[in-house]
Amino acid sequence: MLDEYGRNIDYARISLTDKCNLRCVYCMPEDKVYENNLINDTLSFNDYKFIISGLAQIGIKKIRFTGGEPLLYPHLIELIKYTHYECNIDDISITTNGIGLNEIAYDLKRSGLKSVNISLDSLKSYKYKSITRGGNLTDVLKSINRCLELGIKVKINCVVIKRFNDDEIYDFIDMANYYPIDVRFIELMPLGEGKYLYENGYFNITKFINETDGLYKIEDEKGSTARLYQANYAKGRIGIITPISCSFCNTCNRIRVTSDGKIKLCIHSNEETDIRYYLNKPMIFKEVLKEIILKKPEKHNLIEKKSSDTSRQMYEIGG
Ligand code: GTP
Ligand code: 5AD
Ligand code: SF4
Repeated sequence: MLDEYGRNIDYARISLTDKCNLRCVYCMPEDKVYENNLINDTLSFNDYKFIISGLAQIGIKKIRFTGGEPLLYPHLIELIKYTHYECNIDDISITTNGIGLNEIAYDLKRSGLKSVNISLDSLKSYKYKSITRGGNLTDVLKSINRCLELGIKVKINCVVIKRFNDDEIYDFIDMANYYPIDVRFIELMPLGEGKYLYENGYFNITKFINETDGLYKIEDEKGSTARLYQANYAKGRIGIITPISCSFCNTCNRIRVTSDGKIKLCIHSNEETDIRYYLNKPMIFKEVLKEIILKKPEKHNLIEKKSSDTSRQMYEIGG
């Protein structure tokens, strides 16, 4: 459906938990402990099914499951199956850190998963361990290989941080040269833990890519955050995701559902609508969703304010 600014909202990002098994420096505090260890503490499996069915009925065509870490959600496979087979949504993906993905990739694929976006900020074991505070690079590389074997489309999300991993950009570009993988470089956002790193860690990836020889601008995917480039003879593509230096708000087609039952219309806005009251009221839920979508803000104001308006952390939004 169209929002007030004529944008066709057909993409929902559904967070299945705010919990994560890593603690990336730009995302989660090192000493983060949860009030409880339940993965699905607010919305039940039936609530998620109800929400997805409502979203499908108002014209949502693409669903991305996010977190925290969506692989921690115990009913992920059943939920993907439901989304695909019962709600007829074909475009289903997850954004994950990839830890343990190789073990369930086959089942996910059979359930209807089409693509995975895997966060990976370093190709060096010691650095990967340090940015994720404990992650094992080999686990993630195994998952990437397994997905490629199974024909699941793989995109890599690499947040570029000055003097931390900007020396690895060419290695990541090589990954896209030799494998059919999209490597997307993401500008650090001053949100959550990212706020503390932003001043010294912001790296202008647009400038870097524009000054890199041998990369050519190619057509972008409709409704994607990334601007795409490719080298001659490369198997994969390079993307840059630049919410700061070049915002994509005017073509934003997405809404978010948080794991505590709120609809969030913009990643950087603090406005949210609690939908828990409307769950299992099918007669009104669709109308409520339509009304909420009409309130989607025109754009974020990160550039003027240098920090996000949302009081949520990235792991509570799901990117
Ligand atoms: P595709 O659907 O494959 O295009 O993926 P995506 O880029 O939309 O999603 P992903 O979960 O891989 O997120 C990649 C980066 O884009 C993360 O840093 C997200 O926080 C950021 N991002 C995703 N959606 C939005 C958005 O609506 N606004 C802004 N500013 N950033 C976003
Ligand atoms: N700035 C930019 N990207 C971030 N992510 C998490 N926190 C930030 C931040 N502050 C990225 C993760 C993941 C995606 C969902 O969001 O690396 O790939
Ligand atoms: Fe977990 Fe992703 Fe946040 Fe890293 S960026 S701590 S993997 S939710």
